[in-house]
Amino acid sequence: MSIKKIGSITECCQNDCNIFESIDTNISIGHTRWATHGRVTVNNSHPHISSDGCFALVHNGIIENYNLLKEELEHESICFASETDSEVIVNLIAKYYSECNDINAAIIRTNERLIGSFTYLLVTIYDLKHIYGCCYKGTLGYQIVEGMTVIASDQIAIAPYSDDAIFFEDGDIFKASNTEVECFSTRENKEVTRETIKIPKASLCEKNEYSNYMIKEINETPRAINVCNKNIDKKVLMEIAEDIHEKKLCIVGAGSSFFVAQLGQYIFSSLANKDSKVHSADEFLNIYKPTQLNHLIALSQSGETFDTLDVLKKFSEKGAKITSINNVNGSASQRLSQFPILQDCGPELSVLSTKSVSIQVIIIYKIAITLGLINGSLKQEEYNKYMEDSIILESVVSEFIQNKSEEIRKIAERQKEIKNCFFIGNGLNYPVAMESSLKFKEVTYYHSEGISSGSLKHGSLSLIDRSFYTIAFLPNKDAEEKMFYHIMTNISEIQARGGDVIAFGSDDSKMAEFNNLSAYIKIMPVNKYLDSVLFLVAGQLYAYHTAAILKRDIDKPRSLAKAITVS
Ligand code: G6P
Repeated sequence: MSIKKIGSITECCQNDCNIFESIDTNISIGHTRWATHGRVTVNNSHPHISSDGCFALVHNGIIENYNLLKEELEHESICFASETDSEVIVNLIAKYYSECNDINAAIIRTNERLIGSFTYLLVTIYDLKHIYGCCYKGTLGYQIVEGMTVIASDQIAIAPYSDDAIFFEDGDIFKASNTEVECFSTRENKEVTRETIKIPKASLCEKNEYSNYMIKEINETPRAINVCNKNIDKKVLMEIAEDIHEKKLCIVGAGSSFFVAQLGQYIFSSLANKDSKVHSADEFLNIYKPTQLNHLIALSQSGETFDTLDVLKKFSEKGAKITSINNVNGSASQRLSQFPILQDCGPELSVLSTKSVSIQVIIIYKIAITLGLINGSLKQEEYNKYMEDSIILESVVSEFIQNKSEEIRKIAERQKEIKNCFFIGNGLNYPVAMESSLKFKEVTYYHSEGISSGSLKHGSLSLIDRSFYTIAFLPNKDAEEKMFYHIMTNISEIQARGGDVIAFGSDDSKMAEFNNLSAYIKIMPVNKYLDSVLFLVAGQLYAYHTAAILKRDIDKPRSLAKAITVS
């Protein structure tokens, strides 16, 4: 049986924990755990083995009452080898098994004691033919292929074996052999068979000619725009917009998806004259009390981010209508919404969200123009023009990536030693600046802040000197003259204090000379809303090239994970 990580726990255990190593079976479990309790050490890594050495477990989630349970078990002379919350689960199962000799009953009794989220797999020396497990506030799917059962929390892990998979639902406990999975729903109190859903083809997960997924996925943006334009059903957009028209709109997301939500606030206000409440998912419920009068748009690439799901569930409980915009088919967010919209960008494997962010913006834009048409903020011709613009965007983004990537790389090369920077913008470019700053710090490990250009003078300007530079996103001079001159004033204030400024904008390339910019990259304007997508791609390329020059682990930056499924 494949249970690594034994040595260090034997001193503490009652029995010899090496039992698993000496067993010959074809069962294997493993888990990449994002550190939550205790440092990244061998002892804290999964699987965890019960103190009696008879059970081993991998767990995704958080046991909120683990301290109390641990104390209780320690009083019963059960020893712990790690600082993790997960180890209490396996020790509780072992304890209850010793009382009833029934694995399923031990699992059920254990789950009744746990508070938090717990999706786990369990193996035991008492049954060498099965993996046991449960799904509670997490995601877990499986497929049976040619005498082998693969169980995983991510569709990508199942993709090499099958084009579809079966996903457990909340409260399911199961027993899997290599030919069969028996699933019992503790909520429905009966044996159940869950639905099979399509998952991405394994070939879409190859890096092909690219050296990492981030650059591959940035390059896939034009194709993703094409698919989005073809697949997003106008009828569905109309249904969503009609409901939003009647309701108070809220938009939520975490990380990059939160910055898209903020872009949404500007887009809905400007194109559809619709106010919205937007907060980061982790804070939303501390500020806002949902009611049935709300319509929530929940943005999440993975559809599994804990904080976003938490908000979604609260809104749902209160009777609000939910639109979920996700890139993962069958994700928890998709399942829990009345209006699930699938981004269909193809798998996004890099921790850094790129193509998926761009598509979220386009979907929000499409909902907003549909609402604008319904409530009279837009005329039919304006709506038609905005729709056409979203088609044009594909080729403009494609040309931008092909023609400007090298130019952006050269700027990144020149700036690589400077470890502090601001990303600034006004209007729609304010959330663009915040998202670009997040991308930059996530992957370069350099300090950056995304702020509105107008707020610089209220404190942050004190940081400016030769060792601090600024990336600015400029509105188009003709279309938004006032905003343009406003940010140019802010830029001169930075320059007056010795700070270098690099800018992205849509005006002619003479800009750099006229305004003493140390570099200027021009995008081809489409319209001010969709130009955000071009600026976001520019920010992604800038972060990417800097990280590549610094030789960072681009697809898996330190301390981060693709989907944070814990609170
Ligand atoms: C993690 C990632 C971020 C991402 C966020 C939200 O924190 O490190 O890059 O933006 O999750 O992910 P979601 O799947 O909800 O869009």
